[in-house]
Amino acid sequence: TNPSLLILPGDGIGPEVMAEVRKIIDWFGARRGIAFEVSEDLVGGAAYDAHGTPLHDDTMARAQSVDAVLLGAVGGPKYDVLDFSVKPERGLLRLRKEMDLYANLRPAQCFDALADFSSLKKEVVAGLDIMIVRELTSGVYFGEPRGIFTEGNERVGINTQRYTESEIARVARSAFELARRRGNKVCSMEKANVMESGVLWREVVQRIGDEEYPDVELSHMYADAGAMQLTRWPKQFDVIVTDNLFGDLLSDLAAMLTGSLGMLPSASLGAPMANGRPKALYEPVHGSAPDIAGQGKANPIACILSFAMALRYSFDLGAEADRLEGAVQAVLADGVRTADLMQAEGGSPVSTTQMGDAILAKLDAT
Ligand code: NAI
Ligand code: MG
Repeated sequence: TNPSLLILPGDGIGPEVMAEVRKIIDWFGARRGIAFEVSEDLVGGAAYDAHGTPLHDDTMARAQSVDAVLLGAVGGPKYDVLDFSVKPERGLLRLRKEMDLYANLRPAQCFDALADFSSLKKEVVAGLDIMIVRELTSGVYFGEPRGIFTEGNERVGINTQRYTESEIARVARSAFELARRRGNKVCSMEKANVMESGVLWREVVQRIGDEEYPDVELSHMYADAGAMQLTRWPKQFDVIVTDNLFGDLLSDLAAMLTGSLGMLPSASLGAPMANGRPKALYEPVHGSAPDIAGQGKANPIACILSFAMALRYSFDLGAEADRLEGAVQAVLADGVRTADLMQAEGGSPVSTTQMGDAILAKLDAT
């Protein structure tokens, strides 16, 4: 059967960047004979406008049945007044929760032509290609008890960091599996020096490594030291696996080693399906960018690279993913830039469509 993909363009620049991905999907069908079975549906504000809910039950069911979901972005000022229960973000949260996507993958990859964009020295980031795996469904953002309580004559704010062995084990497996497809190295980060959950985290990751992935090189680092090492010499890492809170901070830090929000893809993975591949949702890190929506200015690369991640991690098409990433690299090397990739001194930016076309032309040339 053909690989199946559900596309949810969403709101704002979501549909604009997704249109460029559609062209690339069509190219893979026409030129590489890879016929994706693509369906498209509404999410976020667009779904609310049509159905009064940010994610229709039918869409949820479809998301559960396909090999991968590719999402643009949700939200916008028009929907800010809505009740929390029907806000666009709730559509995305429902997808993540019901698909049980517990491993959030955030690559930090430096395209040589953009190395000047980094706030770090060029030699520190040139050629960088690392992956942060953040646990996404547990930890201190979800643990009970939580709340603001009264204690004596003052209030106390409480959150609880809580991880079960199975929650740690499953995200560790996601990281080891990824490492096998990349540089074969995992560094696990926690604060085992001051946190019980960190002690358990380290122990479980070590056990999964020893028993199931002895071929993958495993190291451990305290998360604060990890933050320092990420800015000092990020190329020492391949895959970093960490909890929800530390992953939130470290993935934002790592992302900015390499530049613009318009360049950053992500994936959220869950348990393996019958075909052995994980449940998966791919999406750019950026939002719906209402300030530039409808103007043809959006950079489609983050969404295109999210599709490249789908090729690699959901469809076992690593060589095709390399091909697509190579086309992006080549276009950037030619100096083709959307507005978000321009330095202050100028030059003339290309439109969303022109960037997509330039990438297609490079694909054609390979
Ligand atoms: P944003 O990521 O949409 O925009 C931040 C800034 O980056 C803006 O100046 C925007 O123009 C620029 N930008 C973002 N993506 C770009 C691209 N591909 N090309 C060129 N420039 C780009 O974040 P913001 O402004 O905080 O949120 C806007 C809306 O998006 C809100 O409704 C928010 O809730 C929603 N949002 C949705 C997310 C999602 O769907 N996963 C994630 C983050 C925000
Ligand atoms: Mg964050």
